[in-house]
Amino acid sequence: MCGIVGYVGSKQAYPILMKGLYRLEYRGYDSAGIALVDGDLKLYKTKGKVSDLEHFVHDKDVTGTIGIAHTRWATHGEPNNINAHPHYSQTHNLALIHNGIIENYGPIKEELQKRGYKFISDTDTEVIIHLIEDIKVNEKVTLDEAVRIALNQIIGAYAIVVISKEDPDMLVAARKGSPLVVGIGKNEFFIASDASPIVEYTQDVVYLNDEEIVTVRRGHKIKIKTITNKDKTPYIQKLELNLSALEKGGFEHFMLKEIFEQSRSIQDSMRGRLNAKEGTVKLGGILDYEQKMANAKRIIIVACGTSWHAGLVGEYLFEDLARIPVEVEYASEFRYRNPVINEDDIVIAISQSGETADTLAAIEMAKMKGATIIGICNVVGSSIPRATHAGSYTHAGPEIGVASTKAFTAQVTILTLMALRIAQMKGTIEKSRFHRLLNELEAIPEKVKETLAVDKQVKELARIFTYTRNFLYLGRGYNFPVALEGALKLKEISYIHAEGYPAAEMKHGPIALIDREMPVVVIATNKGTYDKVLSNIQEVKARKGKIIAIVTKGDKDVKKLADYIIEVPETEEMLVPLLATIPLQLLSYHIAVMRDCNVDQPRNLAKSVTVE
Ligand code: G6P
Repeated sequence: MCGIVGYVGSKQAYPILMKGLYRLEYRGYDSAGIALVDGDLKLYKTKGKVSDLEHFVHDKDVTGTIGIAHTRWATHGEPNNINAHPHYSQTHNLALIHNGIIENYGPIKEELQKRGYKFISDTDTEVIIHLIEDIKVNEKVTLDEAVRIALNQIIGAYAIVVISKEDPDMLVAARKGSPLVVGIGKNEFFIASDASPIVEYTQDVVYLNDEEIVTVRRGHKIKIKTITNKDKTPYIQKLELNLSALEKGGFEHFMLKEIFEQSRSIQDSMRGRLNAKEGTVKLGGILDYEQKMANAKRIIIVACGTSWHAGLVGEYLFEDLARIPVEVEYASEFRYRNPVINEDDIVIAISQSGETADTLAAIEMAKMKGATIIGICNVVGSSIPRATHAGSYTHAGPEIGVASTKAFTAQVTILTLMALRIAQMKGTIEKSRFHRLLNELEAIPEKVKETLAVDKQVKELARIFTYTRNFLYLGRGYNFPVALEGALKLKEISYIHAEGYPAAEMKHGPIALIDREMPVVVIATNKGTYDKVLSNIQEVKARKGKIIAIVTKGDKDVKKLADYIIEVPETEEMLVPLLATIPLQLLSYHIAVMRDCNVDQPRNLAKSVTVE
């Protein structure tokens, strides 16, 4: 939520900051702003997208070799010109951008108002900059010290960057709960919410830890200290990020590009980990913990959104293969319950961004209660991998479309590898089945390519259902999470109401909704429960619902009943989610495009949810 960029160096800051904002727009896009120092502290901001900001400043003075910029996802105060960031201090000597939520902004605001400070926005952010200025002036301290003292009074989550007219060579930034990375170039520094605005200028980065303050000054070395005033040695890392991964590469939208990347991304998730010939699965990141996982009496999976759906597939996999009981929890519910957690519990936290606030908080809570935490994340160097004991990166590459696609199939791939490995260690899987599954998993990237060939057919289907108001998605077993994920994708990007249900549950409620206007997407690839799914389809047909069925190539019986058929290649039942999800992603995509929706940046959503 909210994207932050800062620059200080010898180049003009404006183009670097704007390019950075476009790269971070997935984090929020309801308003945007920029502040630059060049003698004066110039500040421009507007409601709308980064392109609106660009338009707004086209006739303004944007010179300066130091600046900060922000793209917002509103929490406190509606998206408008005033609530947009940056925010000025009272004297207009300072300006600040912020990502996060200040929980105790109320009492701080009251106190500052008593001292004569005037607040012009409805944001929680404005208190930070007034507080910093108040401390700087009254205690006569440097800006970085004023920031440090102010942050000691603040409760909540933040990534902030402060710029000063009086000290035009320096930026001060800090983080707690929201990500921040500093790029170190030749006589220049970059600050951003993730590495995407930095990668084309330098590969040397420092990921800031919680409660750390960084000062970057022209001609000086980077300086980091904690909010308790301890100096820290910066840990400079090399970025592993490919610039082309941040571009659309000829596709109309990032989402479509990412759907089509799945053959490659699943392959990358397995690379160096799966060797079907030798019959081995090796996940380097969890090697030291796999015995503990094998001994676990219970696995708890915590996640949000699409990652939670991947977790549900994980539940079936671990129970089926490794015979370990699994609970899948919404991180936001789990953290506020008083869950029973034992020291021999394994908690698997799944997150594309590695920054989701609820998932992070659930991890901290489970860690305090003694559980071992294993992460499955996509963004390298993000907060969740750093908070877990061990884990595996999904290696799907940057996912920029707000609706998650390739991250989901990569998460399911890692969960499959983990479950197989633990099952092998525990001896809960027959050798022949183990080898069959390994071979089949190795064949999945090719089958994904085959599946993607349905794109044209799905597009035709999207044309038929473009203006439908409701959709129902049904699946059983491994296909139940697929149904949930299919419904979520449609909701997120096309704003059509859609629900996912276990097929057999339909008769306990959703069946009341079925009439000739209601398309029902049935994932009907199951071998074990094929007849049962057939009966569910009959029940829909009897009420004149329209059936769109995802079936295995060569299917005969469902074909006879369904109104529309989409075929996916045959595979092992537990691997079907890796294929059956793809036509559902495409269906949502094409419907959303036909409805003229902003596919990559759907309304009200953000990709990285760093607030509760
Ligand atoms: C947001 C995104 C979803 C994502 C969820 C969890 O809602 O829009 O696509 O599934 O957060 O995010 P995570 O990064 O933890 O997987």
